Amino acid sequence: MTSLVPTPTSTAAADLLDDLRALRQDVAALPALEPDSYARDHAAFELLSDQRGLIADHLAGRMTALGDGPVSVLSVGCGDGSLDVRLAEGLVRAVPGRPVRYVGIEPWSGSAALFTAEMAALEARELTVEVHVASFADAPVDEIFDVVVFVHSMYYVADVGDTLRAALDFLRPGGELWVLNAPRAALNELVDVLAPSLEDHRQWFSADVEDAFVDAGITTDVVVTLDALVDLASSSDEVLDFAVQARLTPELRGPVRAYLAAVSVPGRDGAPRVPHPVNVFSTTRV
Ligand SMILES: C[S@@+](CC[C@H](N)C(=O)[O-])C[C@H]1O[C@@H](n2cnc3c(N)ncnc32)[C@H](O)[C@@H]1O
Repeated sequence: MTSLVPTPTSTAAADLLDDLRALRQDVAALPALEPDSYARDHAAFELLSDQRGLIADHLAGRMTALGDGPVSVLSVGCGDGSLDVRLAEGLVRAVPGRPVRYVGIEPWSGSAALFTAEMAALEARELTVEVHVASFADAPVDEIFDVVVFVHSMYYVADVGDTLRAALDFLRPGGELWVLNAPRAALNELVDVLAPSLEDHRQWFSADVEDAFVDAGITTDVVVTLDALVDLASSSDEVLDFAVQARLTPELRGPVRAYLAAVSVPGRDGAPRVPHPVNVFSTTRV
């Protein structure tokens, strides 16, 4: 397994982060994002990032490698389905007539309804879709799949090791588990300083996922990193809040934007972009 080296930050960025840490010392936690605005602000965030396209292309390639037979996918934390619908459409179009089963797990009912609507809009008769409105630990799933995939949802589970073991139980022998998660790079250093705890834990980043795989004795393939960039210089306050996973106060926005400017790199058009990498962990059930 590769080591997940965080993106180096400049001294100026490190100082700005220290200033933010000092501002947040011994004060009440910031409010968490509300479930009803989470999906909307996430969608707006994705429009400023090239990560969604990189993930869709990468996972479509993995799905092609599954072959031409019937295929079943369990997407954990499927959100509004805007990524899954692209993957499901690729599966259906690649091999006309082959049965495709796509099941989502999503605790937020508003997002789960959007997942169902997105999939229905494909109007593909060979595609059967179901969504469980539940957290992964409570989802009443009683079938096994060719693929179980977590895209940016492992941050939120109570215990990563338990979740990985349970996910493997939902796979047929030879089935594949894919976990896409962000490292603690420049952007998530901010999340660590600003986001309120989730019940009784912080958000889990890639190093936590890597440790959990090792501790559970599950061997993974070489970890792939997709190097995405996000344009936060032009983001609304709501998207900025989504980026740091907390409802910011007005006085924090200036220092947060200054830190993001300091960690930015030139995008293809030369304008500043914040590095926004995602790691892809994969393993096959023996
Ligand atoms: C960043 S979004 C990703 C959504 C989708 N996978 C995508 O890439 O667009 C994370 C999703 O995980 C869901 N989630 C949070 N905790 C969860 C849990 N314990 N089990 C399953 N899903 C969870 C959230 O409601 C949210 O929709």
